[in-house]
Amino acid sequence: MPDLRVGGEGRVSRFPVLGAAAEPSLVQAKGALRQALDQARAAGLTVGLVPTMGALHPGHAALIRRAAAECNVVAVTVFVNPLQFNHADDLVAYPRSIHDDVALAVDAGATVVFAPSTEEMFGSGTATRVHVAGLADRLEGAARPGHFDGVATVCTKLFAIAGPCRAYFGEKDFQQLAVVRRLVHDLDLPVAVVAGPTVRDEDGLALSSRNALLTVSERAAAPTLHLALRGGADLVARGERDPAAIASAVARVIAREPLLRLDRVDVVDADTLEPPDGRTTRLRMLAAVFLGRTRLIDNLEAPI
Ligand code: PAJ
Repeated sequence: MPDLRVGGEGRVSRFPVLGAAAEPSLVQAKGALRQALDQARAAGLTVGLVPTMGALHPGHAALIRRAAAECNVVAVTVFVNPLQFNHADDLVAYPRSIHDDVALAVDAGATVVFAPSTEEMFGSGTATRVHVAGLADRLEGAARPGHFDGVATVCTKLFAIAGPCRAYFGEKDFQQLAVVRRLVHDLDLPVAVVAGPTVRDEDGLALSSRNALLTVSERAAAPTLHLALRGGADLVARGERDPAAIASAVARVIAREPLLRLDRVDVVDADTLEPPDGRTTRLRMLAAVFLGRTRLIDNLEAPI
């Protein structure tokens, strides 16, 4: 039986396998994470996985806290995945703050933070892509070709490295959540996908690592994205069902804020992410805007 010490709340407080690391909560090698999580499962403990790209904020923290409440051991992964970026400058500009990330993750209940280098994840390169046909090509996928292949590929790798677990994803990235659910289903991966609600600032702006890239005036204008979606939901509450009419109402509110440039707005069936039809029971509005060079996305359910 491995020597795992379980904390008062049933959480592992220390991994012997990681004991020699300078920062005991931080692991950079795939083998070390796999070994630690295998040990935990062998000891009968459950594993929660929270994949992230770092620059952690309270939205991530909520997922980590939920994982810590539901699992004995929580691994948070921090990896800025080059496969999912469409532009090299966006990848370079992506905020990085690993030391703060470790502190936030541990404070929220993480047992271990896995922060591999690109070399560690992809070695001399990778020829394989996971493509979720249909789902990955529409909506955000049409706006960002290859993006969801990059997400699906890295998530599949993270699931393979971590092994059987509950994996936590935010509704903030609604299409990403659908892509991950579908790949787990199609590939029979031993992963239970758990979704957490979008965490917002008081003014309604969905928390995002990219918010750090906004200027003061862009940040002041950004909540209009959420306000516009709320307006769409109100319209649906008043009986509107035509997706084009709902989408143009959202677009009109966004157009009133000069600093926001609408990239796209879609009104879809929340279960299929297809255009709504007679079987639709839940509507979801998805939107993307530019503020300067920063692209923000948000989405909201419109109860019908
Ligand atoms: P990242 O943008 O860091 O987000 C990591 C997780 O946190 C995702 O599941 C995302 O939906 C969730 N999240 C982000 N902001 C949130 C908020 N305001 N409220 C609730 N949850 C929020 O999404 C990615 O990284 C990557 O694509 C990844 C899945 C890690 C693959 O590289």
